[in-house]
Order: sequence, then structure tokens, then C-alpha cells
Amino acid sequence: MTINQLNLPGEATLDPTIEFNRPLSEHWQQPKAILLTGATGFLGAYLLDELLHQTTADIYCLVRCSDGNAGKERLKKHLQFYLLWNEDFAHRIIPIVGDLSQPLLSLSEQEFDYLATHIDIIYHNGAFVNASRPYSTLKAVNVLGTQEILRLASLKQTKPVHFISTIAVLFSSAYAQAVKITETDLPDLSTLKGGYKQSKAVAEQLVTIAQKRGLPASIYRCARMLGHSKTGIMGNFQDLLSRMLKTCIQLGQFPEIEMEPDIVPVDYVSQAIIYLSKQEAYLGKAFHFLNNQQMTWQSLMAEIGSFGYSLEAVTYDEWLAKLKKNVKTDPIYASLWLMVSTANQLFPLNDQLDDSYTRQCLTKPSIVCPPVDKKLLYTYLNYFQKSGYIKFG
Ligand SMILES: NC(=O)c1ccc[n+]([C@@H]2O[C@H](COP(=O)([O-])OP(=O)(O)OC[C@H]3O[C@@H](n4cnc5c(N)ncnc54)[C@H](OP(=O)(O)O)[C@@H]3O)[C@@H](O)[C@H]2O)c1
Repeated sequence: MTINQLNLPGEATLDPTIEFNRPLSEHWQQPKAILLTGATGFLGAYLLDELLHQTTADIYCLVRCSDGNAGKERLKKHLQFYLLWNEDFAHRIIPIVGDLSQPLLSLSEQEFDYLATHIDIIYHNGAFVNASRPYSTLKAVNVLGTQEILRLASLKQTKPVHFISTIAVLFSSAYAQAVKITETDLPDLSTLKGGYKQSKAVAEQLVTIAQKRGLPASIYRCARMLGHSKTGIMGNFQDLLSRMLKTCIQLGQFPEIEMEPDIVPVDYVSQAIIYLSKQEAYLGKAFHFLNNQQMTWQSLMAEIGSFGYSLEAVTYDEWLAKLKKNVKTDPIYASLWLMVSTANQLFPLNDQLDDSYTRQCLTKPSIVCPPVDKKLLYTYLNYFQKSGYIKFG
């Protein structure tokens, strides 16, 4: 499928046999069984932890693995890595060996039927998260996987679906002139560029079609997530910002660009999602997780300088030229070069994005997004150093 052949609005079709005319699971508010996808990922670890603490349900986790024991071991190691493992909860974590990219999630009809019968509510967080892959590569997991989740939600009792999306689905020229982009705005499939955004936007559209067919489904659009605000722990550093930070530190230079990278700590997002998903009044709504107290790129670089790294400000073109010159000396430069040379904008300015409705709904005082300040930055840089991702300054 070439870019020219891709008819994105045409991709957003939900199997007409998926209908939601059965009663809602009677336990959806006090679920006995929850399906969580993507529990072995970054946000998934924290969603699993929240669900274990905030509910008494068994959490069925769709995991790619050879068998149930391997799945259990994977999930245990994963939670241990994030310092979230609690043996007392172990019996409530039930791995389901499956694959989002396959029909029926690669389960047998009996297994799919068993899940459809027992699950009360679904958190669909799993995805192929990769900004440099084309839509055609991501479609099976992100789009067709979402369709299989909606199929599961439709069978037996109707199960509310909580779909994790990205705020990037709204980064399209259709919104260039908008003063505000709010939670009720929808991705514009005809103008959206970039395979990952496209695949998440089409998946959102499938969820929207399912809503129109009667499914109570909520959508959670997250900005760029970094580590826990207290520990800074991150499972991988594949995102653009982490690569930019490491590259600038290693090159000793940063580009002078006008931007404010929107960073939300993963613990804010996971707590907010689970809190909002438990309020009946918010079922079927969309939410934005943004950081309204950001730091400009220049201030961020100045803070990194004060952490012991010497960083020189240069023009964007000079910085790009240096990056290009060094592409063969470190794999991180090559991967960053690929990202920056194909991106329309490095970190699109986000001042149109609005999360007023989400903040209005987040009435629990303990769930607030921490500001991007010296303290948060130091937590992250400390973890970057402790994990060996960057060398000490
Ligand atoms: N990270 C961010 O900054 C960010 C920002 C906005 C939105 N989001 C959204 O948040 C969600 C979680 O993102 P993340 O950063 O936590 O991603 P992640 O760390 O890459 O985790 C992705 C999860 O999806 C699972 N997965 C991928 N392909 C699968 C398949 N074929 N079958 C079953 N499971 C599969 C992965 O399983 P394996 O462990 O087996 O690979 C993993 O558990 C995604 O929906 C993403 O779009 C993330």
C-alpha cells in the first residue's frame, strides 16, 4: 500500500456484524473480571497496578508469550522492573496468550467465547507504538486489533471499552487555524499524516462507530509520556524526546528552536484513566492528558546544563548538519536522523490543545499533572543516568 493509494477515511469501517444490542455487563462498575491489553508495555504496567489497587477484579492480560506460565513470569518481571510488583495481587493477574494482530486475538473460538462471557469491562491500551513505521505495518495491530477488541465487547453482555489513544491524532492541517482543540474534536482522517497517528486515528474512528452502534466507550488521548514522577523509571527510550535529550548531551549542542515539549508523567495518566473510567457520568466521553505547566525547550536545555553537561546553542540547521555528520558513529544518531528528517515539525506547538473538560472531571485532588520543572527534570535525568542511558555529566 503506497501513501498515494491509502484512503484513510475508507479504512475506518467496522465489521457490520459487530453490534451492541445486548445488555451492559451487570458488574461493569464493580467488575469481577477486566481485560487489559498492553500490560507488558510502559503505560500498561501502571494501568495494571492501578486496576489491582482500585478494583477487586481479576485482571486478564492479553500477552504475547508461549504459554500461561511464561505470560505470568513476563508480567511479574515487568511489574518488578517498575517497582510495582506485589505478591498479594499475583493471583488476580491472569495472562491470556494472544496477539492483537490476529483474528479473535489468535484465541480459539472457545477461549474467545469464555472471555466474552466472563469479562465485565475492557481497557484497550496495547498498540504497535512506532512513529517511524507506515500505516500498512501498523494496521494489523492498531486497527484490526481494535476491531477484535470491539468484537469481544459486543459478544454476550456488552462490555464498556476504554480506549487509549494519542493526542497526536489531532495534529493535522485540518486544525491549523483552530483556536482550541478540545476533547470533543475528532481526528480528521483526510489530512492526517504519519502512519502511527493514522493507525490510532482510524482505531479511534472504529471506537466512534461502535459508540454510535450503542457501545459505551471512552477515549483517552495522551501527550508524550515520560517516567513516573517520583522514580523516573522508563522501560525504553525510543521516543523522540529521550533521543533528542541524549543526542544533544552527547553532541554538546542543542538546536535553538521555539517549542515546549508536552511531557506527562505516566503515573498521572494511569491514575487519571482509571479514576475517570470508574465514573458513570463520564462513560462515552473523550479526555485529553496534557501538561499545562510546561518548560520551553531553551529553559529545559539550561536546566540540563546546570546538571553538569556543557551544551552550546546553535541554529537548527547547524545542529542537523552535526547530527548528519555523526550518523554512523552511534545508532541513536541514525534513528534520530530518521525521525527528524521525516517529521513535519519536531514538537508541534501545542497551545491550541485543550484539556479543560478533563481537568474539570478530575475532581480527586491527588490526581494532578505535576509541572515540568527542575524537580521533575532532575528525576528524569537521574534515572537516565542511573539506568546508563546517559553518562554522568
Ligand atoms: N508512550 C507515549 O508517550 C504515548 C503517548 C500517547 C499515547 N500512547 C498510547 O498509550 C498506549 C501504550 O503505549 P506505551 O508507550 O505503553 O507502549 P509500549 O510500551 O510500546 O507498549 C505497547 C504494548 O502493546 C503490546 N502489543 C503490541 N503489539 C501487540 C500485539 N500484536 N499483540 C498483543 N499485544 C501487543 C505490547 O506487547 P509486547 O510487550 O509483547 O510488545 C505492549 O504490551 C498505546 O495505545 C499508545 O498508542 C502512548
